[in-house]
Amino acid sequence: MNKIGQMAPWIGKEERDAVLEYLDSGGWLTEFTRTRDFEQMIASYVGSKHACVVSNGTVSLAAAVMALGLERDDEIIVPDFTMIASANAVVLAGAKPVFADVNRSSLCLDSNLLEEAITDKTRAIMHVSLNGRCPDLENIVALARKRGLLLIEDAAQSLGSRYGGRHVGVFGDIGSFSLSPAKIITTGQGGALVTDNEELHNRLLMIKDYGRPQSGVDYHAAMGYNFKFTDLQAVIGIEQMKKLDWRVNRKKEIYQLYRDLLQGLSQITFVDTDLQDTAPWFIDVLVEAEREPLAEFLKAKGIGTRPFYPPIHTQPPYAHVKGNFKNAEYISQKGLWLPSSSFLTDADIERVCLGIKAYFTQ
Ligand SMILES: Cc1ncc(COP(=O)(O)O)c(C=O)c1O
Repeated sequence: MNKIGQMAPWIGKEERDAVLEYLDSGGWLTEFTRTRDFEQMIASYVGSKHACVVSNGTVSLAAAVMALGLERDDEIIVPDFTMIASANAVVLAGAKPVFADVNRSSLCLDSNLLEEAITDKTRAIMHVSLNGRCPDLENIVALARKRGLLLIEDAAQSLGSRYGGRHVGVFGDIGSFSLSPAKIITTGQGGALVTDNEELHNRLLMIKDYGRPQSGVDYHAAMGYNFKFTDLQAVIGIEQMKKLDWRVNRKKEIYQLYRDLLQGLSQITFVDTDLQDTAPWFIDVLVEAEREPLAEFLKAKGIGTRPFYPPIHTQPPYAHVKGNFKNAEYISQKGLWLPSSSFLTDADIERVCLGIKAYFTQ
C-alpha cells in the first residue's frame, strides 16, 4: 500500500526544464533578472506595489522588524501559538517578542486578548494568519491604528488566501510569506516581503544587500546583511507561481472533501474556515480524544500526520515567559495536521478518512 505523507513538495517537469535552461544560459546563479520577474509576479498576485524576496521566511520577518526601525526594548506582540520562527525573527532583529493568547476558534490573535498584552513599550503587532485564516484582521488593523502601533503580517502560510477579497499580507505595514518546501508553492527555501510603502521597500532592499543602496557599489548607507535570493530559485518560483491558482482551488477542494467525509464524527472538530477566501495550506483538525493513539493508528496504515506546534512559552528559549495562554495550550494539545499535499487524490483522502473512522469505531 502506498504511503500518504503529511506533506510533500511538488516540483514537476516545468521546474526541472526551467532550471536546466537557466543553467545552460550561463547565469550567475545569484539574484538578478529572474528574481525581479518572480518578485513582480508575487506583487501582482497579492496586489501590493512592491515585493522583495529573501533567503527564507524567518529572515524576511527579521528584515521587516529592522526596516520598521524596531530595536532593543521595543516590544512586538506575537501570538503564543505559531511556528516559532515568528518569535525568533523578532529576537534575531534585536527587539522583544511579547506573547498574546490566541482565539480557540480561529487559532489566530484575538483583538480583545491582544489589547491586554499592550504595554507602553509595545511598538508593533505581528499578526500570523495561521493556515490562511485571519477572521479578526479588520479589528486588529483598527486596534493598531488606534494605538499607534505598526502591523507586520506574518503570512508565511497564506499565499493564496484572502480576507474580504484582498490578499492576506497587504493589510499591515509589511507582509511576509514563506516559500519553504511544505508551503503551497516552494523554492526550496525563500521568503517574500510585500508593502505599498516605497521607503520601507527601499530599506528592505538595503538590509538584504549589506546596507548598499546600489548593488555592486561598495558604499553602505545603512546596517545590512546578506539575505539575498538566487535566480536559480527564482526560475523554480516562476513555474510554481503559474501553478498557484490551480493549487489554491485544489487546497479548497481537499479541505471540503475532508469536511464532508468526516462530518458527524464527534471526535473531530474543524476550525471555522471560509473557503471563499481561505486556501488552507494544512488540513488542521482538533481531536476531541487522545491524539497520539490516533496518530499511531494512522501511521501503522501508512498515513502521516503531525501534531500542532507547542505553545511558544513552553519551548526552552522562552521558558522565562509567564502568562495565561490557555487557548494556545488547549489547541496545541488537541491539534493534528492531516495529509495535506496538493497532489493528494480524492481516493487518498477517502483512505485517510476511513482510517480515522475505523480508529473511532474499533
Ligand atoms: C507562521 C510562520 N512564520 C514563519 C515561518 C518561517 O518561514 P521559513 O521556514 O521560510 O523560515 C514559518 C514556516 O513555516 C511559519 O509557518
